[in-house]
Amino acid sequence: MLTTGPRGTKDILPDLSSHWRYIESIARDICNRSVYQEIRTPIFEHTELFLRGIGETTDIVEKEMYTFIDRGKRSITLRPENTAAVVRSYLEHKLYADLQPSKLYYIGPMFRYDRPQAGRYRQFHQFGVEAIGAKGPVIDAEIISLAVLFFRKLGLNELMLYINSVGCPKCRPVYRTQLKDFFHEKLSFLCEDCQSRFERNPMRILDCKNDKCAEISNNAPHMVESLCEDCSTHFSQLKQLLTAAQIDYIINPRLVRGLDYYTKTAFEIQYPPLGAQSAVCGGGRYDGLVAECGGQPTPGIGFAIGLERVLLALEKQKLLPEVNTAIDVFVAPLIGAAQAMAFGLLVKLREQGVTCDMDYMERSLKAQMKYANKYPAKYVALIGEDEIAQGKVMFKNMATGEQQLTDSKDIIRMIKEGMEK
Ligand code: HAM
Repeated sequence: MLTTGPRGTKDILPDLSSHWRYIESIARDICNRSVYQEIRTPIFEHTELFLRGIGETTDIVEKEMYTFIDRGKRSITLRPENTAAVVRSYLEHKLYADLQPSKLYYIGPMFRYDRPQAGRYRQFHQFGVEAIGAKGPVIDAEIISLAVLFFRKLGLNELMLYINSVGCPKCRPVYRTQLKDFFHEKLSFLCEDCQSRFERNPMRILDCKNDKCAEISNNAPHMVESLCEDCSTHFSQLKQLLTAAQIDYIINPRLVRGLDYYTKTAFEIQYPPLGAQSAVCGGGRYDGLVAECGGQPTPGIGFAIGLERVLLALEKQKLLPEVNTAIDVFVAPLIGAAQAMAFGLLVKLREQGVTCDMDYMERSLKAQMKYANKYPAKYVALIGEDEIAQGKVMFKNMATGEQQLTDSKDIIRMIKEGMEK
């Protein structure tokens, strides 16, 4: 047990961490350009926040939360998602007093007690964006465009953007009744989960993955046909905005999302080659969430992208950049007595911004040269008996094979000249 991590978790080893930095840098770059600022909230929150925010009848709250009582007898939950926490922070720090909307983003781990499989983990990472304080559809289109830009920037093709409107507290109850009327007679044909959803959350029946439930749902009435005027206008304008930005979309009337806070716009981006776990991004509007968390009624919208799934997709399409392990200088002490001089040079070079490493294992000259080629190193600074005697280093250019006895203070100049060539 001590040599295996918990089920559903993954170590990100050094050879893969550069891939993570790569996708994270693209996310940050898009957010900076679009004036979204980073917010970092704790990875645990009071359980109550998620019960109220995500909804007590959702799968996340019913089956997937990591909840425990801490030593102060408080119920604490590792965040299964970050929208509720961002809203909590928005209220706690009165971000509504700043210029609105508050445009925020985050990158970090989330925790769900899911059944692990390819693309589904118990600790996973999301890049998420939230815009709180604007009610018009332009911000919906902007949020969707950020997700699309992120995927385009990574070079991912074959993505499908699905949109829907899930209405608002005004029009949804009417639709809910229609839906219940529709499913009422078919109840015994639905799966056990959907039978229990029927009373508590009938819209969730629409996105059940069970084949029989999906077949029955095919003929169910659509929310978009029951929208009130406000929701209907919002949805039409969103479609126009997406078209203006040349963002292709498919309307999916059965897209309802698994969190209770959504109102009006709901969307998902799928990457079908990932199979069962093909949802790489999910998001939508949550105009009731701020009030639910104790604030003034304030609209909001956002999305979250599952970064493990993005990496799987990039791997599939061979879009991950080569890992660059090259260094400027490898410092090679050839005898034990040269270690102090080598180490002094190493620290001086690093201080000057040079990327360098040295031999720590008392390897032979041949083994050190082999090692230097592995990085590869542009230069090797050899220090043996003669070099110690003269207080200089034998500086070798690995590309040309040229070497010369060099004063250590000239090394920086030579590296810079070499870089300019
Ligand atoms: P979500 O649809 O639950 O939405 O999750 C968003 C994305 O996180 C999914 O599309 C998927 O890529 C990834 N994801 C979810 N669960 C797992 C898992 N167990 N393993 C790996 N990846 C996973 C939310 O979390 C909302 N907070 C999104 C949002 C932000 N809505 C408004 N603002």
